[in-house]
Amino acid sequence: MARQVSGYALTLVLTCMHFETLAVHAGHRPDPATGAVTPPIHLSTTFERGKDGSFPTGYIYGRDANPNRRAVEQCLAALEGGTGAAAFASGMAATSAVFQALAPGDHVLVPDDSYYITRKLLQEVFARWGLEHTAVDMTDLRAVESVLRASTRLIWVETPSNPLIRVTDIAGIVAVARRAGARVTCDNTWATPMLTRPLELGADLVMHSTTKYLGGHSDVLNGALIGREDDDLFQRIRGIQITGGAVAAPFDCWLLVRGIRSLPYRMRAHCQHAAAVAEFLASHRAVARVHYPGLRSHPGHSVAKRQMTDFGGMLSFEVHGGRTEALRVAHGSSCMATSARQNSFRPEELRSSAARRIDGSADQDLQRVILERVYSGNNSALVPCAC
Ligand SMILES: Cc1ncc(COP(=O)(O)O)c(C=O)c1O
Repeated sequence: MARQVSGYALTLVLTCMHFETLAVHAGHRPDPATGAVTPPIHLSTTFERGKDGSFPTGYIYGRDANPNRRAVEQCLAALEGGTGAAAFASGMAATSAVFQALAPGDHVLVPDDSYYITRKLLQEVFARWGLEHTAVDMTDLRAVESVLRASTRLIWVETPSNPLIRVTDIAGIVAVARRAGARVTCDNTWATPMLTRPLELGADLVMHSTTKYLGGHSDVLNGALIGREDDDLFQRIRGIQITGGAVAAPFDCWLLVRGIRSLPYRMRAHCQHAAAVAEFLASHRAVARVHYPGLRSHPGHSVAKRQMTDFGGMLSFEVHGGRTEALRVAHGSSCMATSARQNSFRPEELRSSAARRIDGSADQDLQRVILERVYSGNNSALVPCAC
């Protein structure tokens, strides 16, 4: 008979494990039915009742819970040091759940350079629900304080940010939020728990587009929220996950668990290669600016040094010569991929992103354009800019 391990004992065991060990083992163990060391994929949407009408395995229906989803949720909670996690069908579904957990009339602070769909969601969907928001430079704590309202319930942090790779002082924002009685959610997509642990710095929730580094192979669209406490906020989120139904599919969860196993090793390579690419670009005469927190010249370098264990695999850079030159560089490189979105450079996307800030800045004469977000992984593939 399988030895029962209490939740407390399990937490104790997990906290003693190295990150690498957690990445491989957290959330699953050999399948008790077959001994398979790789977890099976449970596609069943419905689970059988016992003779007494109960659900002896704890599973009832696929939207409520599924073994593969539970495995990935336990794994993510362990990696982030949270008490629980909720896996969603995408990063944006997870983000939506956080905003849905707030009430009409509540006010949210969001970084003015956040992943632009996060702001689009607030502007186009949640504004109609009566959720108010203000975009602010999250790296400037005084600016953040100055836009707080009595109704501010949530501060949304994204660090490093997409696409300007700005670094926000999470503990500093948490202190501001506590004084205002607000919660803090950190989009930890680019740092991953390997490099930054927002819950240990006081954040209430971590959000991941697990589509990115956690999945690691560009073949799974997924998202997750990890809670520091199993409190009212996390309970509301769990309810929204199950009732709203934007849950992560079993096969996606399986892929995610598999991807996470190699996360620590991939992240080391990403950091190492990004640092080399950043140094190279910073010394290139065609490059106007490199955004990488590992560079001493980066405004967020000292905060990054304090709150990250390494500087990450993402960077963006600007080239002299404007959009035409930016596209020429991107297309001329054998290891850069430009997306359909980026190829088209739709004016509204340029307006909605960092490019607008740069186009409209005093440095316009340089005609700099944010060119590319870089995945500097060991396959040297460059992930296209989503701005
Ligand atoms: C920082 C960041 N957060 C959230 C998202 C949204 O995640 P998803 O595409 O999984 O919905 C993205 C997507 O690129 C992102 O870059």
